[in-house]
Amino acid sequence: MKTALITGITGQDGSFLSEFLLSKGYEVHGTIRRSSVDYRERIAHLEGQPKFHLHYADLGDSMSLIRVISKVRPDEIYNLAAQSHVQVSFDSPEFTANVDATGVLRILEAVRLSGLADTCHIYQASTSELYGKVEEVPQNEDTPFHPYSPYAVAKLYGHWIVKEYREAYNMFCCSGILFNHESERRGETFVTRKITLAAARIAQGKQSKLYLGNLSSLRDWGYAKDYVECMWLMLQNDKPEDFVIATGIQHSVRDFCYYAFKHVGIELEFVGEGADEKGVIKSITPQLSVVNKQLAVGDVLIEVSADFFRPTDVVNLWGDPSKAKEKLGWNPQKTTFEELVKIMVDADMAKVAVERAGESIRTNLVEYLEKGIVK
Ligand code: NAP
Ligand code: GDD
Repeated sequence: MKTALITGITGQDGSFLSEFLLSKGYEVHGTIRRSSVDYRERIAHLEGQPKFHLHYADLGDSMSLIRVISKVRPDEIYNLAAQSHVQVSFDSPEFTANVDATGVLRILEAVRLSGLADTCHIYQASTSELYGKVEEVPQNEDTPFHPYSPYAVAKLYGHWIVKEYREAYNMFCCSGILFNHESERRGETFVTRKITLAAARIAQGKQSKLYLGNLSSLRDWGYAKDYVECMWLMLQNDKPEDFVIATGIQHSVRDFCYYAFKHVGIELEFVGEGADEKGVIKSITPQLSVVNKQLAVGDVLIEVSADFFRPTDVVNLWGDPSKAKEKLGWNPQKTTFEELVKIMVDADMAKVAVERAGESIRTNLVEYLEKGIVK
């Protein structure tokens, strides 16, 4: 029976990884941060299970990390905690460096100080953002790094310090260079989730327009649930090695919009260029026309807003997962791009429908109270 510690357990990946490790019989411990509202939506369904434990710790606080690591004495650590939003890293570069760079060092030192350097396997959440202003396509484990945001520069430190501890102290620590992976649990300000939520809200009459930044940006998007399995596989490997984890297929933000809106019944066409580009309704399915009579062919649903441009933007990420496929036996095509979009849109259609039902119940209740029908 193994014990794992997951930092960033409340995040998208932390929640899927917890489920995965629990299903394998692991004792799962996770670190959480104190906040004024205890909002742990992604792991709420796991709380209370006998093999699931939470501890307060922060990547900016060495003592909290030493305390939790020496208490739990994990066989495996998955360091997923990070300020993970690239655009936010331009506004909070120092905080991002403290958590995403020095935070990794704190974990490694806490493991050494706890006397676990010879036994504990450590996974570090590296990122395709390291390739940044890309020097070749597609990118593999040998592609040079060229970080292009405060987030990526911080993550590069994390990546190199893990390599350093592996070589200097012979520790089993490795990094997964993960390309973008999304899900119905993705944070709402990342572009895919922003799009699927907007498609659901527009289809159900709760939003009229979606404002986005660079529509031409290219990403290799996979399904987060498939990617957490690879984190685990990396720690079961004979030796600690870094791996690129990606699908090997690239799409633009514009493509993502097209497929997401198509799935709710709206075919989009894109007209204009650059900041003037717009996503316009080309056709609507008869089913959607019945549900939402406000929508009409020619309506502009997507516009470009400079608010979402970045001072430097990474625009051509495309991963080559050959090494993970061959050495770990991982299947990069388990969930296709179209299936991923469908999973996300279906979840958001249900979420918006539930919100609308709640609003309708509240409205009826207010009316009934006013009329004295209910007291
Ligand atoms: P996420 O949903 O943003 O989750 C980030 C987690 O880190 C949350 O649990 C957050 O806790 C925690 N955290 C933030 N600051 C912290 C701090 N100072 N101390 C302790 N915990 C802190 O991110 P994700 O998408 O699951 O990604 C997981 C990891 O993979 C991150 O390191 C990310 O940079 C990296 N990554 C992600 C992708 C991707 O496409 N998703 C690709 C490559 C690499 P709160 O809930 O309290 O905020
Ligand atoms: N967030 C966002 N919002 N991005 C937009 C928007 C918008 O309105 N419009 C266009 N984009 C573009 C961004 O400029 C970027 O080129 C691309 O869409 C993807 O942006 P995000 O979804 O925010 O993800 P990211 O690629 O910057 O970062 C994510 O993936 C990295 C791995 O490559 C995060 O999960 C990082 O933590 C992760 O390391």
